[in-house]
Amino acid sequence: MVRIKTPEEIEAMKPACQLAANTLIMIEEHIRPGISTDDINDIVHDYTVKHGAVPAPLNYRGFPKSVCTSVNHVVCHGIPGEKKLKNGDIINVDVTSILNGWHGDTSKTFFVGEPKPRAKKVTAVAKKALEIGISVTKPGATLGDIGHAIQSFVEGEKCSIVREYCGHGIGQVFHEDPQVLHYGKPGEGMVLKAGMVFTIEPMVNIGKAGIKLLNDGWTVVTRDKSLSAQFEHTLALHEYGVEILTTPSL
Ligand code: MF3
Ligand code: CO
Ligand code: CO
Repeated sequence: MVRIKTPEEIEAMKPACQLAANTLIMIEEHIRPGISTDDINDIVHDYTVKHGAVPAPLNYRGFPKSVCTSVNHVVCHGIPGEKKLKNGDIINVDVTSILNGWHGDTSKTFFVGEPKPRAKKVTAVAKKALEIGISVTKPGATLGDIGHAIQSFVEGEKCSIVREYCGHGIGQVFHEDPQVLHYGKPGEGMVLKAGMVFTIEPMVNIGKAGIKLLNDGWTVVTRDKSLSAQFEHTLALHEYGVEILTTPSL
């Protein structure tokens, strides 16, 4: 069941979404060789709390930290730890803030120092995949249209799209209907309409699409150890079209 939001509710989500977006801008300057993902977690945690918000990942279904940090072949849900970033790594930082009871969810993949060609490629394809998904998001289109646009672009770039994790409805609940698959067929699936609020968050691998879950119960990695990149926005549908809610307000 999709919870349709009123225009007032969509307005009420903006502070949470903007805070999450601002957090990514804030963290970018800290991302350099030598910083640990625990350091990133602590900085995100303190910034979130300082702005009157709650980091949604912390204790969510037992997740132990305040942000997800997914390095190199980690696809998503990486748990911050002592390991330090090194030159040439890529890292996705996935921030979800709860402010006034509403969630804002956004992520970006960053380069640590100087990226190698494959890191540049997979990151560029993931960024463009999100942009293409957003570009076909409008009332009257279907979820299959979004999935197809993303999948066909990513596969055309000789990369692969992860199937096991998807975008999601969001609001006062972190993850709700609909599931927004990043693959699909044009015209299939739910028809989009004004008042829907959901994320698009394609995970793109430079190698094969297969993933596995590590023993910690969270960390998702590529089976073939190939690099993986991801970008995410929270989006609202209006009669006139799509609005990106996770836009910074600095
Ligand atoms: N932010 C992730 C998403 O985009 C979800 C993370 S759940 C957590 O949906 F528990 F790992 F934080
Ligand atoms: Co999300
Ligand atoms: Co997220």
